[in-house]
Amino acid sequence: MADDLPNRVLSLLADTDKPLLSSAVFSDLDFTTIKSALDRLSSRELIEYQQIDREQWILTAEAKGIVDNGSHEARVFEAVRLAKDGLKIKELPKEVGPEAAKVGQGTAFKLKWIKKDGDVLRTNTDSIQDVVREQLQTIQSTKTYEDPQVLTDLRKRKLIEMKKVLSFKFSKGPKYSTRFVKEETDLTADMLASGAWKDIKLKPYNFKAKGAITPAGALHPLNKVRHEFRQIFFEMGFTEMPTNRFVETGFWNFDALFIPQQHPARDIQDTFFISDPPRADPPREDPSSDPTTSTLPTADRSGDSQSSDSARRTSTVPSSPTHKRAKSKAESKQESLPDRTNSKRPTSTTHQRTKSKAEIHETPNADSAVKTLDYKQYWDNVRRVHEGADGTTYGSIGYRYPWSEDESLKLVLRTHTTAISTYMLHKLSLDPRPARYFSIDRVFRNETVDQTHLAEFHQVEGVIADYGLALGGLIGFMEVFFKKMGIDNLRFKPAYNPYTEPSLEIFGFHPGLNKWVEIGNSGMFRPEMLEPMGLPKDMRVYGWGLSLERPTMIK
Ligand code: PHE
Repeated sequence: MADDLPNRVLSLLADTDKPLLSSAVFSDLDFTTIKSALDRLSSRELIEYQQIDREQWILTAEAKGIVDNGSHEARVFEAVRLAKDGLKIKELPKEVGPEAAKVGQGTAFKLKWIKKDGDVLRTNTDSIQDVVREQLQTIQSTKTYEDPQVLTDLRKRKLIEMKKVLSFKFSKGPKYSTRFVKEETDLTADMLASGAWKDIKLKPYNFKAKGAITPAGALHPLNKVRHEFRQIFFEMGFTEMPTNRFVETGFWNFDALFIPQQHPARDIQDTFFISDPPRADPPREDPSSDPTTSTLPTADRSGDSQSSDSARRTSTVPSSPTHKRAKSKAESKQESLPDRTNSKRPTSTTHQRTKSKAEIHETPNADSAVKTLDYKQYWDNVRRVHEGADGTTYGSIGYRYPWSEDESLKLVLRTHTTAISTYMLHKLSLDPRPARYFSIDRVFRNETVDQTHLAEFHQVEGVIADYGLALGGLIGFMEVFFKKMGIDNLRFKPAYNPYTEPSLEIFGFHPGLNKWVEIGNSGMFRPEMLEPMGLPKDMRVYGWGLSLERPTMIK
């Protein structure tokens, strides 16, 4: 019994002052059981012990056969010797078995024990010495061999294997006694009350004991890559968009993005619709659920510690052309702050901003001229641009179908974070100015789940709003952005999104897979999306989206 092992060790030592070997006396017990018993005794100086690691050579099954029956070559010799008139070569496998015939014949020739005489084998000598068998016999009994070369050769021939044997050599210690009294680990109130504490043996405190391993948390790989992306965005002067709206209306997820109501993406096959409640109110000011703060964060204003001056240096977005426009009050105030989006924006102005009175209302008696957004107007504008009723809404012929309010109010799990970009761009129309926003959060698509598809993934999304942006700037920006992620060989392919024109798919070369893989989708938002929001006609907005999972997989 392992429990009683300390006492068994002590009684074994009772009759001898010589050390004992655990491999001899406890051959049936495992290493840790023996070690823990010996540790208990030695920590109390009842015994002393030493660990001995020995290497032993043991015979393989084939070698055991050789020990029993002789080596293959010896058996070949024996078979030839017994055949009076020589042994037909053909007969040899029948006599000694195919394996011994094959291996043994060659060796017996080499050792000149046998010779060939036509188609028969004859012996070359009267007697032989089966050296291999003798070596193996020695190894079997002593577990080793004097000549290390012999061991190497036999191991190469797969006749022996090395085994590490761990054992302990233990002997009486300075406080040896024949009995190990189990010590108390706790001093109890009872012991104190009864006075038993005077006689009990307390277990000594073990200061060397290692503490239990504390399970520690670790960052999820997706979170690590998310962190890298966030740093890149902050470095480039972006402000993070609030992403707490997992449920959106068809309006924000699709209609506001000029995605027609018949678009296949709006099908139940592709989008998760909420059943309870199935519909929302039309878009309206709703401070309680509005994830943005009352002051809209923009790249210009983000004086937070995460933004850095390198944003201006690394910016690849071309500076605005020398368009002229009137400065808003808010902008004049911001002029003293570093302009992270476009440091070369001209300040002289003759341009007329296209902000219309109907879209933005100044609250009559607010001192600070707090503006509010007219959601009703926006909702109507979106309807008009979809229907293209008069054929000239924002210069677009629209989709020419009757737009359904009901479809727009349906609640969905957001299929892209572009719903948030849209929400933020609409907010920007309160005070249109250069802005850089990003978000990284979960989106949902009604996919058939398999090993490469999930019904949800994380989307990395960015938008840049400024005057006079052109496609080259988007390409240039992408190159800088992805370079920061370690991807520096990009290709762009024309693509289609209902809300961007032109649209570009972004491909990166994957050296591991040795092929070009799609890493993102991008484009310049259409006027049909931006103008209904009340953004100035000459404001351009880049947008792009990619999955967080893709680069995480590649890394
Ligand atoms: N919404 C797009 C997607 O889901 C990404 C994108 C965002 C494309 C913005 C263009 C502009 O893939």
